[in-house]
Amino acid sequence: MKVTPETVVLINCGCEGIQKLARAVRSRKVYTMVIPYSASAERVSAEKPAGLILVADGNGALLNEAKQKFAVCGVPLLVITDPENSVQTAVDFCFNECKCTGSWDLDTFIDDAIADIRAQVGNEHVVLGLSGGVDSSVVAALIHKAIGDKLICVFVDHGLLRKNEKEMVKEIFERNFGMNLVVVDAADRFLDKLAGVTDPEQKRKIIGKEFIEVFADAAAQSKAPFLGQGTIYPDILESISFDGNHNGVIKSHHNVGGLPKNLKFKLVEPVERLFKDEVREVGRKLGLPSELIDRHPFPGPSLGVRHVGEIKRETLAILREADAIVTEELLSSGWYHRTWQTFAIFVPVKTTGIRDGRRSYDYVVAIRSINSVDAVTAEVVQLPWELLFKMSDRIIKEVPGVNRVVYDITQKPPGTIEWE
Ligand code: XMP
Repeated sequence: MKVTPETVVLINCGCEGIQKLARAVRSRKVYTMVIPYSASAERVSAEKPAGLILVADGNGALLNEAKQKFAVCGVPLLVITDPENSVQTAVDFCFNECKCTGSWDLDTFIDDAIADIRAQVGNEHVVLGLSGGVDSSVVAALIHKAIGDKLICVFVDHGLLRKNEKEMVKEIFERNFGMNLVVVDAADRFLDKLAGVTDPEQKRKIIGKEFIEVFADAAAQSKAPFLGQGTIYPDILESISFDGNHNGVIKSHHNVGGLPKNLKFKLVEPVERLFKDEVREVGRKLGLPSELIDRHPFPGPSLGVRHVGEIKRETLAILREADAIVTEELLSSGWYHRTWQTFAIFVPVKTTGIRDGRRSYDYVVAIRSINSVDAVTAEVVQLPWELLFKMSDRIIKEVPGVNRVVYDITQKPPGTIEWE
């Protein structure tokens, strides 16, 4: 049986900021869920809520409809029409009307999640694709805590990783945590498939398809009946619009796609009800280092979408070195944590320069640094010139084949964050 915390359900009657409100109430130790107004009263009652909060941006017809519909749930009901200023009202309602005890926090979440995983999995094995990103890393740590070496983590080296990425993952998960880690060296397979391909969509498709095949192979070999996944709450909420339709618009373009249907895994998704910052906090509590937990977002197709044009081993190596220098300088200057994403891009254009007193004809590297709240829009960060000069100077001195560095000053929109 899954452990169910004391829950207050927020009914989304058309509110942009409902996730923020749900998150804010949780930080006051009351567990919240968000359900679209189109859900049935039975569906809502199934969560055994201590109370319901109907939330809309302003007073709309949907609110009245929802009030009538959910009255049958027979629990206290609050209407909020100004979510930004209503956190305290919502919290007071939870404690005073719904009689919540304020017993939910991430420590209890971890205990419950471990109990749930053990109950679900029993003595079986779980296989998990570990990317080195926040979500899969936290899920690895959580499942490992629950079932130890019955967790098999699979890390695919597709050849498009950042410098030292594989070593870092091995260091943290294999050496520090003592996890069962299978590293699949598939770099040649990916790079051979990418040879001659310049179209960005085609590149993404190849990377996504190969990834699924390689991972599915490794997962099948593990013979585990369960598959761990780093699904988080916004992934679920953002694929359902408030009227309950699966719009799939926001995220689908970034999803690499699912595993083949004939692989019949049972899913273990222990953080599917957590917001991103809660996932990070759980990771910290489980002992994952900040270098992993507080990392910038990194796209699934990895350096592949930061290397414009055909990916060749030599030019990919240039990007990897340049990117490592950008990250190093960003960290040592203290700017890493002041930006959402900052990275290098390989531009397959040769320009004229001077190196060692001679004319050179070498490639261009671009630097992009943006801030954002949701990656839907982004603004260019005005990194200090001294820092940019230092990056540029080091890249040109230390990375053979590059003689020019440029700074991308394009906002999103119209530019995307990644170059491809
Ligand atoms: P764009 O380039 O569309 O990126 O402005 C928005 C955010 O999404 C990340 N991104 C991806 N993430 N798979 C991912 O998991 C992808 O294919 C992908 N493409 C872009 C990007 O890094 C940024 O944070």
